[in-house]
Amino acid sequence: MISTIKSRLGFLAVPAALLLFQAPVLAQPKLNKDNIDEVIAAMTLDEKINTVVGTGMSMGEAKFPGTAGHTYAVPRLGIPEAYLADGPMRLHMNPVRSYDSHTYYTTEMPSSATVAATWDVDAARKVGETLGREVSDYGLDVLLAPAMNIMRSPLCGRNHEYYSEDPMLAGMIAAGYVNGLQGQGISANLKHFAVNNQETNRNNNDSRVNQRPLREIYLKGFEIAIRESNPWTIMTSYNKLNGRYTCESKDLTDAILRGDWGYKGVVMSDWNAGHDPVTSMLAGNDMMEPGQQRQKDAIKAAVENGSLPMEILDRNVKRVLEFVVKTSNFKNTEHPGKTDLDAHALIDRQIGAEGIVLLDNNGILPLSGVKSVALYGVTSYNPVPAGMGFGAVNTGRYHVSLVEAFRNEGIVPDKALVTKYTMHIAAEDKRLYPNGRPAFSFQPAERASEFVPSEEELKAAVKANDVAIITLGRVSGEGADRNLAEWNLKNNEGALISAVSEAFHKAGKKVVVVLNVCSPMETASWKSQADALVCAFEPGQEVGNSIVDVLTGKVNPSGKLPMTWEAAYGDSPADDHFPYDYVFKMPSFASGSGVNFQNKKAQEEVKAPEANVDYTEYTDGIYVGYRYFDTFKKAPSYAFGRGLSYTSFEYSLSDEKIEGDVASVNVKVTNVGSRAGRNVVEVYVAAPDGKIEKPAKELKGFAKTRELKPGESQVLSVSWKVMDMASFDEKQSAWNLEKGTYKFIVAESSDAADVKASAEVKVPKARLWKVSNSLAPEYRIKELSKRSK
Ligand code: BGC
Repeated sequence: MISTIKSRLGFLAVPAALLLFQAPVLAQPKLNKDNIDEVIAAMTLDEKINTVVGTGMSMGEAKFPGTAGHTYAVPRLGIPEAYLADGPMRLHMNPVRSYDSHTYYTTEMPSSATVAATWDVDAARKVGETLGREVSDYGLDVLLAPAMNIMRSPLCGRNHEYYSEDPMLAGMIAAGYVNGLQGQGISANLKHFAVNNQETNRNNNDSRVNQRPLREIYLKGFEIAIRESNPWTIMTSYNKLNGRYTCESKDLTDAILRGDWGYKGVVMSDWNAGHDPVTSMLAGNDMMEPGQQRQKDAIKAAVENGSLPMEILDRNVKRVLEFVVKTSNFKNTEHPGKTDLDAHALIDRQIGAEGIVLLDNNGILPLSGVKSVALYGVTSYNPVPAGMGFGAVNTGRYHVSLVEAFRNEGIVPDKALVTKYTMHIAAEDKRLYPNGRPAFSFQPAERASEFVPSEEELKAAVKANDVAIITLGRVSGEGADRNLAEWNLKNNEGALISAVSEAFHKAGKKVVVVLNVCSPMETASWKSQADALVCAFEPGQEVGNSIVDVLTGKVNPSGKLPMTWEAAYGDSPADDHFPYDYVFKMPSFASGSGVNFQNKKAQEEVKAPEANVDYTEYTDGIYVGYRYFDTFKKAPSYAFGRGLSYTSFEYSLSDEKIEGDVASVNVKVTNVGSRAGRNVVEVYVAAPDGKIEKPAKELKGFAKTRELKPGESQVLSVSWKVMDMASFDEKQSAWNLEKGTYKFIVAESSDAADVKASAEVKVPKARLWKVSNSLAPEYRIKELSKRSK
């Protein structure tokens, strides 16, 4: 009987439900910022689904080939496409197009780690602004940047795309970048939200972390960036967080992001992330990228069977349309289709140089009276402008080598070495890439190995040149982490450093080592052989010019390390909980025992979960980077915040106070040396150990002076939110500013020996800021604590 009724009414029941989802055919409003609800009411179910599921990557004959995709257009309702392309270091788009004689090059800017090393929010703003101009000039709408995950391990394959181990530095630099980009009318996209700190098995790895480190370390930077710059869009990450894919985590997107932080923009998934699009929709992930048919089918079925309420779908569509009306394509902004590459190259050169960190210098730098240099290391000839992966810079326009850069300055690189290295690199390329270098690869990059010159060759080079420069390179990219072999000296690098140092020192000549690297490497065992050590990170396409500007003193270095350089791998508590010995087998979306979720057979064959591959326990808790080294009094090779100058500075501190929700201090910086230079003021806070244990000190504010002439001073006012000094109290789900004496510290690095001035401020009464009780791990992670040492 029932079945008869069902079948009889079937023709009514299903279509009736569907009718509810179909828009009245006659309503044809044209989208504007005030009629979004009306437009949604006029959309069909398919149009809504197409709006929340991407249209695929833009390949081949697409309008912008080589970009990440675009949103769905509904011309009858005045909804245009919004075009998305990758950053963070450049607009990732094919520079040449078929049947088109024009070129579409973009500028390769410094890597994010380099930008962070400037410790200059204005520099980050300028990078964002420049990239924003290029995106706008070419006619796109969103740059999928900045990326701002915490550098928990020096081996994370994407560290060059990230800013820092410290959330305050990362948050403020990200905010500068976003403000620059969005000031050009281009949407930023804060990514990868959140706790995506390793690439190994990134599509399945479960980051297991307690609520305190989650809030204080891994989410704090995002919180700050959102507060200070309001990015129009955010991208969730690939990984799971405490058992759930981040794109399916209601706690993350709804409770924390929108609830606790009041975020109003669009949230999208990372490309092909997650498992169940319906759970994502319910969690408040508005767009599945780049979009798959199976996701559309699942969403449709869920709407039709009622498990995905139409209000939820409409809510997500609404957030997408609220974003679309802000885009430049919606506003019909003029797009010249070309951009000022020469002007932007100058910006790259300048900011690339400002992010260079002088680690050690026994007086050889800046080079003076040098006429010829012996350039060693394949990286001097084949530099690393930035990393690999989608965030790579590799448009093929040009990269300036150290050879070219020295020649630009009238300094002659040794000709015999130039010839020898050119031949060596060509032969190595053939050996490593017999079928040519792939345009894109998830595989860790193989670089040419080093050779050790013969005694004869060394003798000749010592005789002919004033100084030796050795450049070492490290490059990484998404989809794979670095491993221990990458961290240590390799491929004859150690032998090269020893041979060159010995030969030059014997003749009373000096050796400078330049590190053109994505992320830290081992330095403690060999650094004493160099007379100066310079960390250039990855300065972008002008790489050689930026480096030589610093070596010659054209630019007085003012960069500071945005991360700790530990002495030996294993010194940091995170090291054991990172896949440092993992051997690359295949791209991360198919590795680990969790395996590709789309591959049912593989899923059924799931092995026992493997630590650090299938899941990673964040047993280091809040003791990430300098918070560990400083608190547990372990000496790193180079401390967070370190960076020397060719001049020196003195500091005095005044007006330290807490007023309402803001803490601040004035710092007077005086250039007491003999060269003009800029300087970063790092302000740390040492909070009283109360109910909640505290690290020795934490960075709470920073600022950078203008160029100060010798004898000149500048007073910088550094301020931060009082709430950012509070600890996360898991018991109360609240930020807890405990009462007691807070020390405001001005230091030249996080090393206790580099403290320059301090003052005390009292908090007479504890303050509490309640937030949601979200993202508790399934079991408590046993964490490092200084109290149970
Ligand atoms: C990366 C994202 C990127 C996206 C689109 C993913 O593989 O993780 O950072 O924006 O691809 O290219």
